[in-house]
Formats: sequence, C-alpha cells, structure tokens
Amino acid sequence: MKSPAFSVTYPPRIELAQLPTPLMPVSRFGKKIGVELYMKRDDLTGSALSGNKIRKLEFVMADALAKGSDVVLTCGGAQSNHCRATAIAAAKLGLRCRLLLRTADPSAPPPPEANILLDRMAGAEIIWITPEEYRNRGEIFEREAEGLRNKGFKPYIIPEGASAPFGAWGYIRAAEELAADLAAFPTKPTTILHATGSGGTAAGLILGARLFGINARIATVNVCDDRAYFIRVIGDICEKTIEQFGLPVDFDRSRDIEVIDGYVGRGYALSRPEELALLCEVARTEGIFLDPVYTGKAFYGMVREIERSPGSLGERIVFLHTGGIFGLFSKVAELAPLLNAG
Ligand SMILES: Cc1ncc(COP(=O)(O)O)c(C=O)c1O
Repeated sequence: MKSPAFSVTYPPRIELAQLPTPLMPVSRFGKKIGVELYMKRDDLTGSALSGNKIRKLEFVMADALAKGSDVVLTCGGAQSNHCRATAIAAAKLGLRCRLLLRTADPSAPPPPEANILLDRMAGAEIIWITPEEYRNRGEIFEREAEGLRNKGFKPYIIPEGASAPFGAWGYIRAAEELAADLAAFPTKPTTILHATGSGGTAAGLILGARLFGINARIATVNVCDDRAYFIRVIGDICEKTIEQFGLPVDFDRSRDIEVIDGYVGRGYALSRPEELALLCEVARTEGIFLDPVYTGKAFYGMVREIERSPGSLGERIVFLHTGGIFGLFSKVAELAPLLNAG
C-alpha cells in the first residue's frame, strides 16, 4: 500500500459509529467458492444504529448541526435502512426527523414491523408517498421544508441514502481504515466488493481508494436500476465531491467505476428463493446474517460470478458487509419454508 501523497483534511464529523469495524476471515464459505474471503463488518458499526449509513451520517449530521438545523428530512423505500439510521441518529442528537417513505398505496401503509417499527419507536414522523410521487420527491421535500420553516424550524434535507458529497466522506474514511487493514496482508490480486443502492458508498470507496493508495479492484453489485444508471449516479457523486472539497484525485467515470450488473433479480427489495437460500447458508456456515435487499444480492452476485468464471474476482475478496439485518424481519413468510432445508 502506498501512503497518501498528502494528508486528507476531513470535514467536521460527529461520532455515531463504533469504529474501526473488524475485517474478518470468512474461511469456510471462502473455501467452498475457492477464494480467500474476508468481510469488512460494517454491519457492526452499532446495534440499531448500524450499517453503512452510519458512516455517512457522521459527516451529514455534523453538517446539519453546523448549519443550526433542528429537523432532518430524508426519504427511501418503506423498509429503508437509511431512514431507520437517520431516525435513530436524529433521536440520539435531539433532532426531529421526518421521513418520506415509498409505498404502493399510502392509504394502506405497511405494518410497523422491522425498520418501520424502529423508525416509529425513535419518534420519526412518516409521510407515505407513492412511487410516482417519490420520483418527484424534490418538490415534496421543498414543500415540507417550507412548511417547517413557516413554523420556525430549521430543516435540513438529506438526499436518498445520504448519497451526496458529505455522505461520501463516510466511505472515504472507511477506505482509510481498509487501507490499514489490507496493509497487514501480503499482496495478492484483491477485489473489494459491495452492494449499491444509491451510490454514495461506492463513490466514497472509489475516492478513498485513490486518496489512500489502496491497491485493489473495487466492484459493486447494483440492487436496482442498471449499470448505466449507476455509472452516472456514482460518477456524479465522485465529481461533485472532488469539486466541492478540492480533492486531488484523478477520476474518470468510465475507467474507475465497476458495476457488476445482472443481480437485481425480481426487482428492488424483492427476493428470489435462491437468494434467500444463500442467506440461510451463510448464516449456517459462518454465523453471519446478510440482508435480503442489499448485501444478500451482492453476495449472491459474487458467488454466481465466481461459478461462471472462476478467478474473475481475484484470489482474495473483501466483501463489505453494509448491514441491513432488520430487513430480514420483513421477509419471515418467505424465509420460513427454507429454514429446514439442508
Ligand atoms: C444494508 C445496505 N447495504 C448497502 C446499501 C447501499 O449503499 P448506497 O446507498 O450507498 O449505494 C444500503 C443503502 O442503500 C443499505 O441499506
């Protein structure tokens, strides 16, 4: 590992995550698929306040507090991990939280289970919106923020997944941690693999890898949309972060972003039995719980890619476990038939 050519000046950050997270061998499963497999356990950044979003929120919430905000607004799917993390971080910091959550029929919203239960327990106010309204969420954010300002509040809007320049810093910092983790290993063709839903984790890792001289391939499996969409989204976040913070990074979206497409399956947050069966197998083999929406799909994609083309992901894989365990509790009915399968 090269040391960074300059010292990175981080924007202000508040401590929310339990860091550094461990990098652990996942040897039994790795042996089965013929690679040296490790997991960077970002599912262990905390308990309910856990997962990849916490790293991003450390910088985003610091910015909200610096701007004197007293209420945060954000958005996501009904079972959004990001919204749950934001609701809990807001409670921890004494801020109000309003969530725009997407559901097919806002007049009959999903029951308060899994992430929604935690959102509600943490006191977040939920506004249910349709997928069509979600596409125009910018307008809804503005309307809500205006209403709050009229009542004397200072709202702060956090974009989907906190995937914007301040959020990207969370994974620039994670890359600094990973560079130190990997420095302890002998050099070997290595791939750092993770799931992408809104692009901020990938953007931060790509920039951080450059800044901290990580000599590994960084690849991401998209869990919604497609490769072209994520090259655009991740590319935009990288370029905006470079510009906003004057980062000395030579970045080229077509060269530096690797999206492994083909594993969206039935669609965002929808599972196939073979994906859920793999979650059970990993739990049984390693005592590690992947989530059905993000890490489970990325892990499934990794296994299938290796089966299709052994060696294509290098000799050593560091799978970034980005959390999401509460998503399992919204899939009980689908998981139940798989529980006794050998
Ligand atoms: C558990 C989990 N893993 C991965 C991701 C993807 O991260 P990003 O939104 O930064 O692409 C998310 C959120 O979208 C998530 O909740």
